[in-house]
Amino acid sequence: MPDLFDRTWIKSLELANRTVRSATWSGVGDERGYVTDLAVSFYSELGRGGIGLIVTGYQFVMTNGQQLVYMVGNYEDAQVEGLRRLAAAVHEQGGKIVPQIVHCGTRANPTFFREGDELWGPSAIPDPATGSTPHEVSREEITRLVEAYAAAARRSQEAGFDGVQLHGAHAYGINQFISGAWNQRGDAYGGSVKKRYRVLGEVLEAVRGAVGEDFPVLIKLSALDFLDGGLIPEEAAQIARWLEEDGIDAIEVSAGSATSRGDTSPSRKRIAKEEDEAYLVDLAAIVKRALKTPVITVGGIRSPKKINSLLADGKADYAALSRPFIREPHLVNRWKTGDTARATCISCNGCFETGLQGLGISCKVERELRAKNEDKD
Ligand SMILES: Cc1cc2nc3c(=O)[nH]c(=O)nc-3n(C[C@H](O)[C@H](O)[C@H](O)COP(=O)(O)O)c2cc1C
Ligand code: SF4
Repeated sequence: MPDLFDRTWIKSLELANRTVRSATWSGVGDERGYVTDLAVSFYSELGRGGIGLIVTGYQFVMTNGQQLVYMVGNYEDAQVEGLRRLAAAVHEQGGKIVPQIVHCGTRANPTFFREGDELWGPSAIPDPATGSTPHEVSREEITRLVEAYAAAARRSQEAGFDGVQLHGAHAYGINQFISGAWNQRGDAYGGSVKKRYRVLGEVLEAVRGAVGEDFPVLIKLSALDFLDGGLIPEEAAQIARWLEEDGIDAIEVSAGSATSRGDTSPSRKRIAKEEDEAYLVDLAAIVKRALKTPVITVGGIRSPKKINSLLADGKADYAALSRPFIREPHLVNRWKTGDTARATCISCNGCFETGLQGLGISCKVERELRAKNEDKD
């Protein structure tokens, strides 16, 4: 029977347990996306927590691919030095770390664009998140995009990371190409699922070419957009099969986006009891049924009990958490010592505030508790 504390491998990468820190923008880059001292101490703290695999916050691979302020970048070679410090900070604590690399597509924020940058999308359709209509990328621009992912993966390897994760979820660039909600192209990159997969297939091939056969390449993939005309699980399972054939090493299954229907954002609120936990695990199970490749589930996972039950049911091979590690970076070590109470995170999404101020993300509930206690003293 698989267990949360099993030692496992993703290709050559040995992991101490089946927990993953899901990619989490942490607001620790500088104005140009370079790694700061704050980033190094932030990841060092996470590295001490006993997590099996840490995925960094999304790193933009081109200057027109950045969404949030203080996002770390991976778009030019001068950034390797800082990225190396980030990887080393986790390795020094005995942890494993891979960067998540992204082009945010139509969800990029033009405020951060450099001279000559344009908003890119698969088709010239207004994005409901911003109302902006992107420039429909040409074949030549697709080649530049593919090369940017490959260069970011190469930099990640040079910086000493343990692998790399492509961001193929949450309505960003790759998700937009594979989804009929954004991709309405009439050429070889749009139409059938196979054609919509083409950009992702080219990205994976170029990334693999850049890092070699032994370097783990993972993806976080949306399996459902919760949008009219958007990606559905059957399409995602087919895409996952092609990814497997093309050499992906693990697939983290997510869903939804900032503009998906109802309460279907990737970071749902109100995970109050065990039944609310692991709200995307059935999507992971659909993808897992189609594959031999390890599958990671993410979304509202809060307790060792739930993790062991989804592992026992064969629905996924790994459990990824994001918000719980903001409140409790050492949560896995706590569980390991026998205190298996569920994560104290109440899933309120108050953790963005300090990140947007350039101070790094932090738990709002903890901050308020501390302020109350200080008032009492
Ligand atoms: C502050 C914050 C930043 C996030 N940044 C990313 C990111 O960079 N890349 C990504 O794929 N998902 C990102 N997410 C989504 C999480 O990785 C995760 O999919 C989602 O929060 C559900 O997991 P949880 O319930 O354990 O938080 C972010 C979520 C939060 C709260
Ligand atoms: S602010 Fe704290 S409790 Fe609320 S979601 Fe973020 S980490 Fe969890």
